[in-house]
Amino acid sequence: MPGGGHGGPRAGVLRLRTILCDMLGVRYPIIQDGMGPFSTAALAAAVSDAGGLGTVSIPGMLLGPAEAGRRMRAEIDRTASGTDRGFAVNVPVGFGPDGEPLPPTAAYLRAVLDARRDPAIGARLVACITSAGLPPPQLVSSMHDAGLLHLHKVGAVRHARRAVEAGVDVVIASGFEMGGHTHARPVHTMVLAPQVIDDVEVPVVVSGGIHDGRGLAAALAMGAAGVGMGTRFIATLENDWHPAYKKAIVDAAEWGDVVFPGFFGPLRGLRNAGSVRLAELMAAGELDEEGLTAWKEDRVMAAQHDGDVDGGLVLAGQCAAAIHDIVAVPDLVAGMVRQATELLAAAGALAAR
Ligand SMILES: Cc1cc2nc3c(=O)[nH]c(=O)nc-3n(C[C@H](O)[C@H](O)[C@H](O)COP(=O)(O)O)c2cc1C
Repeated sequence: MPGGGHGGPRAGVLRLRTILCDMLGVRYPIIQDGMGPFSTAALAAAVSDAGGLGTVSIPGMLLGPAEAGRRMRAEIDRTASGTDRGFAVNVPVGFGPDGEPLPPTAAYLRAVLDARRDPAIGARLVACITSAGLPPPQLVSSMHDAGLLHLHKVGAVRHARRAVEAGVDVVIASGFEMGGHTHARPVHTMVLAPQVIDDVEVPVVVSGGIHDGRGLAAALAMGAAGVGMGTRFIATLENDWHPAYKKAIVDAAEWGDVVFPGFFGPLRGLRNAGSVRLAELMAAGELDEEGLTAWKEDRVMAAQHDGDVDGGLVLAGQCAAAIHDIVAVPDLVAGMVRQATELLAAAGALAAR
């Protein structure tokens, strides 16, 4: 079958165990990366249930602190009510165009720590995944003091090194082909990941362009502890997003993506009327930085929630072109594990000849 090779589920039959599985308490070394602003609570619960690690995403970058904290907590609670297994939460800690952290960041981090202290759900919130800016050592310590693992996403070796110096437990090396916020300097996954693996002592998760068992096998073969995926998980039955968004991923063609200015840095999405309109708005200079940010967040929600995949901004990675079906999460996860296991065994036999 095209690309994924994810036929019938055989969860429980195969085991692909790495140090990441032991650290996170998951069966398979597969992480669903954070994808805001519309909810990933149902998706996160499904991924954790299927043996991977689901991630709660931020509900927006423009909310006031009280609303931001309340909505993040609601997303965490919804995920916890959907699975008995462990899950993570993602908080971008980057700076806006004025050099200040975006307003809801502190509220999101407080909501994470509050949820972790809740005896009803706290034990299942196992990790915080930061992104978009270097987490200061005090932030990493506060996660560790709360008993959370701290994973951090980077797009450069130097950023991986600094994150490890700040104390993070796991680095996610994500290449420029990734969907959503990508990096200012375009280093692609195949170039970035081996360098980060060589450079840091902590386990490394490879992300950006991974969409099937071949990507999982390649990552593990190069010494990674696991993989992270965003775009592939959008096109799943359990994901709450509008069906038109999932169809836009399935329909995406090679060269159908474009990079435009985002909230912290460049954003990758599909080229459509919305991305063209953004370029026009920027060229006309009609909106100030705040107005543009509000327009972009509105257009991302219009696509994710309302299904406006023409006038909205459809964030997606380059691997959208390689995704041809909308699948159930357990089938996707089990199929990837099966394919990777077979490929790694075949590679072993090749090396033995
Ligand atoms: C629709 C969408 C929204 C995203 N939102 C976030 C986010 O809120 N925080 C974050 O750290 N990364 C975000 N990302 C990036 C993903 O977490 C992940 O790094 C990326 O999707 C991996 O590359 P892939 O899409 O090729 O799998 C987003 C990606 C997509 C596609």
